[in-house]
Amino acid sequence: MIAPSVLPADFSRLGDEVRALEDAGVDLIQWDVMDGQFVPNLTFGPDVIASARRHTSLPFEAHLMVLTPDVMAARYVEAGCQRLIVHAEACSHLHRTCENIRALGGTAAVALNPHTPASVVEHVLELVDMILVMTVNPGFGGQGYIAAMEPKITEVRAMIDSHGLSDSVHLEVDGGIGPSTVAGAARAGANVLIAGSALYRDPKGLGHAVSELRSLAEAAVAA
Ligand code: DX5
Repeated sequence: MIAPSVLPADFSRLGDEVRALEDAGVDLIQWDVMDGQFVPNLTFGPDVIASARRHTSLPFEAHLMVLTPDVMAARYVEAGCQRLIVHAEACSHLHRTCENIRALGGTAAVALNPHTPASVVEHVLELVDMILVMTVNPGFGGQGYIAAMEPKITEVRAMIDSHGLSDSVHLEVDGGIGPSTVAGAARAGANVLIAGSALYRDPKGLGHAVSELRSLAEAAVAA
């Protein structure tokens, strides 16, 4: 699956931008929520996401790069995000946080920063529908892909498969994904690929960028 980060979008035309992403063939939209505390950047609150909700029927997920995901979770589910991605590094009680998100009617996912080992998520795999392996240090778009994360992607894939969860738990990768890096991430085991700058900088447009990423990823896993 190919999903955009909307960070590079023109926020003065957010409705048009999410419609353009749907027309470009993305599978879902990821909202990079940053609180200026967990990461040194500040983006959108739930009301901004809610304003975009009516412009597309695509699933929304909120990537909560925030220090207090338990406090914020309900607002993002109410805003129309089906999936909430919390950072393991921000959760003292990750198991409870995932249970709380499910109790709110959302699906839970856990993100791992580059320094965080895959083993951190082993005991919450039954509570989530996705693990996100970050291939940049969170906070900004346009950073370089950290290829050293590929063994961790493979380790998380093996963990998901060994728990018999291959059909119910996705593996997402976010950060520096583009035509030259998507094959490595897909071969390592990712099946959901987040791209921001690679989509918006394609001179042939969003549709071309989405289909190119998807075909490169599919070719990599078929090889
Ligand atoms: C980092 C952000 C970025 C964004 C994707 O906190 O989460 O990874 O989604 O940015 P690009 O695709 O430009 O690296």
